[in-house]
Amino acid sequence: MSSFSFRHQHVFVAGGSSGINLGIAKAFARAGAHVVVMSRSADKVAQAAAELEALGAQALGLSADVRDPDAVQAALAQAHARFGPIDVLVSGAAGNFIAPAKDLSPNGFKTVVDIDLNGSFHVLRLAYPMLRKPGASVINISAPQGVNPTMYQVHACAAKAGIDMMTKVLALEWGEDGIRVNSISPGPIGDTEGMRRLAPTADALERAVSTVPLLRMGSTDDVAHMALFLSSELASYVTGAIIPVDGGSALRGGRDMRASYVPRSAA
Ligand code: HXC
Ligand code: NAP
Repeated sequence: MSSFSFRHQHVFVAGGSSGINLGIAKAFARAGAHVVVMSRSADKVAQAAAELEALGAQALGLSADVRDPDAVQAALAQAHARFGPIDVLVSGAAGNFIAPAKDLSPNGFKTVVDIDLNGSFHVLRLAYPMLRKPGASVINISAPQGVNPTMYQVHACAAKAGIDMMTKVLALEWGEDGIRVNSISPGPIGDTEGMRRLAPTADALERAVSTVPLLRMGSTDDVAHMALFLSSELASYVTGAIIPVDGGSALRGGRDMRASYVPRSAA
């Protein structure tokens, strides 16, 4: 998509080294932005930065775990030193797996909440002083689980619901700075780690597609195009919104994960 220009803007993508978030990073790179991707794996961020540079962008890959506020702070400081105030902040680091609540350990629940929800809080709060004021666009990557109760997803549902509420609260608090805060809630997106985990077999994938009113998986571009729109002037009056990019699938409520569940002892 070339009709949006983010020429020389600073775009920082937490969890940007693969999948949907890397797709978003690439869309901004194609639109002329300087792009920073941050995630745990040094190899993955280096590879992602190389792919962004191949698209003509100036790019930086930084290794940090969103559960570690000091590491996040150091990465943000490095990004700010290189590219200045952040115009677009995307917070999308996440972890997930299918597990019934009765078999989920306290640490299993805590791990997903720590990455998705607490990690997003660290990213947003620590980035706040570096966000362009006025003008910054903040995008949290949520999921239908934030709105639709979904069996075997108590950890992801709790975390993503928290993220959506954080989106709304920060839209209220940061509106006076001219910062807009929104969530994108992708539906099933093809060829991603999320779908490999939540629909691990051909049958499960077919079931997932059959519940989408548009009868297809989404692409990472589908999500990236919404991120471009939300960060553009065209969306300058949009804040505090939770926007599904899901082919209408959330209208059907939470997907039934039970048939896709494989107990770890059997895996
Ligand atoms: C039950 C599990 C589990 C599983 C891990 N745990 N996998 N419990 N079922 N399949 C438990 C462990 O037993 C442990 O608890 C605790 O979780 C922490 O596990 P670790 O492996 O030590 O954690 P860590 O190394 O930090 O890895 C985090 C992770 C991992 C989430 C478990 O899978 C990861 O790094 N994921 C990132 C990639 C990812 O998930 N991408 C997909 C995002 S998609 P105990 O009690 O044993 O100590 C997504 C989709 C949303 O979010 C919606 C789509 C529609
Ligand atoms: P993915 O490729 O696994 O993306 C997750 C990203 O987060 C990776 O770059 C990962 O890199 C990073 N990450 C994970 N834990 C981290 C941590 N503790 N600190 C820093 N970075 C961390 O999965 P995806 O399916 O594309 O999902 C991307 C986003 O979309 C997630 O927020 C997910 O909830 C959301 N989503 C996905 C779908 C779908 O259909 N796939 C649907 C709805 C919502 P490292 O391993 O290097 O850390």
